[in-house]
Amino acid sequence: MGERKDSLLLLPCLPHKQGQTHLSAWDKACSSLSLIIMYYFAVPCQTALQLKYSYITAIIFVIQLDKLFICRREGMEHLILIEPQIEYADDIWEFRREILEWDADIEDQFAGCMSLDVCKSAEEWIKICSLRKWEETCGKAGTAVPSHMYLAVRKNDNKVIGIIDLRHHINHPILGTWGGHCGYSVRPSERGKGYAKEMLRLNTQNAQKLRIQKLLITCNAKNIVSEKTILANGGVFENIIDVDGCTIKRYWISL
Ligand SMILES: CC(C)(COP(=O)(O)OP(=O)(O)OC[C@H]1O[C@@H](n2cnc3c(N)ncnc32)[C@H](O)[C@@H]1OP(=O)(O)O)[C@@H](O)C(=O)NCCC(=O)NCCS
Repeated sequence: MGERKDSLLLLPCLPHKQGQTHLSAWDKACSSLSLIIMYYFAVPCQTALQLKYSYITAIIFVIQLDKLFICRREGMEHLILIEPQIEYADDIWEFRREILEWDADIEDQFAGCMSLDVCKSAEEWIKICSLRKWEETCGKAGTAVPSHMYLAVRKNDNKVIGIIDLRHHINHPILGTWGGHCGYSVRPSERGKGYAKEMLRLNTQNAQKLRIQKLLITCNAKNIVSEKTILANGGVFENIIDVDGCTIKRYWISL
């Protein structure tokens, strides 16, 4: 009977739901509580009962930790980069609305989204993106160098999580100094879940397909999150430059 009662303590460990991409507040509370119990009551165990509870709390903690890794892995595995398509028009527009609302005051608003801010509709932007891909047509779309735009779509719910671009080369005075090969934005409501890191990782695979050997990625020195994204993808710091009073850090990612 005592055994059964003890095993009831494990009930708070709800199983991982397929497609769950981050721990719920309940999961976090469970793992924190189990850690605290382990630390204060169970670790210095002297009696058999204390030992038993130390096992239970350790199991709860390990289950939650395992769930965290599953969440991370599933969230990442379900992110794909695809070229802008009309079926995502509504979601692209919703993405734009979020950025206009949440990022109004930030310098890097719409980074990597080239002209999404000034387009009148998602359909117009999608057309511009397709012109940008080719040397012959990119000038008409307002860019000197051909580039690909990608939507980062979460497969679980087919939601546009971010946008990232990839310039085919940087033989251009601005791109070669501070523009770099790519920029990226993550939907404000989906930030802090590792999506930017995964988007940049997936984009390095696209760059490899274009036979690019190393990527120049730059960030505003104040943009710590972007800098961490670059570092997490193996970015090697080269130097700092000043562009019209703005301090820009240059990093290279070898492919
Ligand atoms: C920069 C941006 C793309 C990051 O997206 P994100 O999905 O939130 O980033 P991630 O969750 O992948 O986190 C990347 C790194 O920053 C860290 N991070 C995330 N949010 C953070 C925060 N609020 N404070 C400090 N660090 C943070 C993460 O822990 C991770 O670092 P780690 O590998 O050392 O743990 C997003 O903030 C954005 O769209 N900003 C506006 C546009 C922009 O600045 N683009 C970059 C221009 S070059």
